[in-house]
Amino acid sequence: MKFTVAIDGPAAAGKGTISKAVAKHFGFVHLDTGLLYRAVGAKTLAGAEPLGAAHHLVPEDLLAENLRTPEVAQAASRVAVIAEVRSALVAFQKSFAERSGGAVLDGRDIGTVIAPDAEAKLFVTASAEVRAERRYLELSGKGMDVDRDTVLADVIARDARDRDRDTAPMVAADDAVVLDTSEMSIETAIAAAIAYIDEKRGKTA
Ligand code: DC
Repeated sequence: MKFTVAIDGPAAAGKGTISKAVAKHFGFVHLDTGLLYRAVGAKTLAGAEPLGAAHHLVPEDLLAENLRTPEVAQAASRVAVIAEVRSALVAFQKSFAERSGGAVLDGRDIGTVIAPDAEAKLFVTASAEVRAERRYLELSGKGMDVDRDTVLADVIARDARDRDRDTAPMVAADDAVVLDTSEMSIETAIAAAIAYIDEKRGKTA
């Protein structure tokens, strides 16, 4: 049986961690859709043309090592503005969402465009300052040479680009539950997500 969990929200709000934990808890498969855009973005940084890169994406591209860098994040956000790039990636995401046995997808437009009929929808957010601090700790923890002001400026620029684009902008679906993690531990946020999905599962069972 199909059961789709759509988890959207801005960068570093905690949606990746929450999605992985939810998928593990319920035994669902998980797709980090940002990786698709990051893989296309990384190819453009290497000189490829965005639409060709999106059309020729192969699963191995999602395993490339450099996908988590700030440069690739910005490149991902830039190619994500292009409507044709987005449409090239839609079919794969939609079929993943429909998989039987349950699927969690996290991104920006899952609850609105990829899986508007998802059984459970969460919009995970936090203040830009809190998200920037989390991203700073994550990147510096990996040994990357970053500073707080630049990380905050990057977060704000990416939010604006993702939110203000014409095609599939980042927005909470009308029927999504908003989870603001600014003052929440990740454990509390995961527990809240699981409780909400449990409730939805009860209704669809
Ligand atoms: O989730 P992330 O930070 O890895 O996403 C990187 C970029 O990809 C993000 O800034 C915008 C784009 N993206 C998107 O437009 N739609 C999605 N469903 C997922 C990501």
